[in-house]
Amino acid sequence: IAHSLEPSDLIILENALLVVDSNGIIAHLIENTPRSSVPSVLSSLNLSPAPAPEAVRLLPRGSLLIPGFVDTHNHAPQWAQRGLGQSMHILDWLDRVTFPNEARFADPTYARRVYTSCVDGFLRQGVTTASYYGSLHAEATNILADICLAKGQRAFVGKCNMDRNAPAYYRDASVEASLEDTEKCIAHIRKIDPEGRLLKHVLTPRFAITCDPALLEGLGKIAAANPDLPIQTHFNEAEQEMAFTRELFPQFGGSEADLYRHYGLLNERSILAHCCHMTEYEISVLKELECGVAHCPVSNMTVGGGFMAAPVRYFLKRGIKVGLGTDSGGGFSSSILDAMRQALVASNAREVMSQGEDKGLDIREIFYLATLGGARVCCLDDKIGNFKVGKEFDALVIDANAPGVMTMLEDEDSTRTIFDKFIMTGDDRNIKEVYVRGRSVKV
Ligand code: GUN
Ligand code: FE
Repeated sequence: IAHSLEPSDLIILENALLVVDSNGIIAHLIENTPRSSVPSVLSSLNLSPAPAPEAVRLLPRGSLLIPGFVDTHNHAPQWAQRGLGQSMHILDWLDRVTFPNEARFADPTYARRVYTSCVDGFLRQGVTTASYYGSLHAEATNILADICLAKGQRAFVGKCNMDRNAPAYYRDASVEASLEDTEKCIAHIRKIDPEGRLLKHVLTPRFAITCDPALLEGLGKIAAANPDLPIQTHFNEAEQEMAFTRELFPQFGGSEADLYRHYGLLNERSILAHCCHMTEYEISVLKELECGVAHCPVSNMTVGGGFMAAPVRYFLKRGIKVGLGTDSGGGFSSSILDAMRQALVASNAREVMSQGEDKGLDIREIFYLATLGGARVCCLDDKIGNFKVGKEFDALVIDANAPGVMTMLEDEDSTRTIFDKFIMTGDDRNIKEVYVRGRSVKV
């Protein structure tokens, strides 16, 4: 069993016994339980009712049990668009590739088809929690929420708000219509998952460029009235985007932190995608307001312009919450494993840029970002992110021997070596089982 307690604190437990209760909660995590002593240790726990023999699973050598991956930034309507328009600058890519694609989600039948494939695809890749941007359409966004719930994925689902600087065929009709549709989507999730066991609506102003000031203000009011709702937006992603934002909102002197803070959209529930170009001042605002960063290194190196990823080492040093995002369309991969590897690569570039000040990330740290780090960004670390007793069982069973291209195992490999081989070279073929809240969810 491998899980993180802190960025550099990777715990690997050999021969551990993990007990999940019928509500999907981790009831016990017992170290040093060799196979032969499992029956006696289980009976000493006096579980009621006693587990049926078939409920006891022994994983063979070459298996790992790890927490499910958290994708903190993901556009569900871009599922069928991944890999297109690479190397374009952000606003051109939105205009030419993304907006025409997302406009298709006006059709609920199309939305259901793509979203079904999307949620299945993310679950297959071990993403047990995702923070999704929907399209601007309320109906399609509600369909996405229905699909996540039915398939058992833990998800934040947000109707994307955008009423300007987008083509007439793909923008909210008015500020009022955008806010009304948002309220409809909030009500839908409260209806289908009243206790919020798996789902939350996430307020989703796409970014300041596509939102009239009155729309940002309205969303800020909804955020204040609903302190349980997370908030997500794109933040200091690329030069082209930052320059246009500065033009539209000159009063904030080029600070997106001041801009979003002004509209009541920055707090501990804010998930800010990218944060590639940050002043010291903006970093201190994020720290003070406890905002989380969705680091999307694959997207940053392929779409955006500037081709520069966030200074993650520096964020971690400053105590800022950081998780990983696949960003779906903005990049070529929807795999968190790829995001982990690219985070490592990008951090090495940052080490050079900082003349050695900000050391590159290591494997323990990228694993943390993909699991507990993401849970912290989503303010879900009381529920998920690692295997602490009392948390919900969101987990992946990894088979390091599965046919595929993962680095082959050798007899003398330690569990840590097997872990490193999987993180750096494994793929979905090694992800054999996926659990959310104790329920098997892989298709
Ligand atoms: N900024 C606004 N919308 C988007 C999007 O869909 N993807 C990325 N990467 N950046 C954005
Ligand atoms: Fe994005």
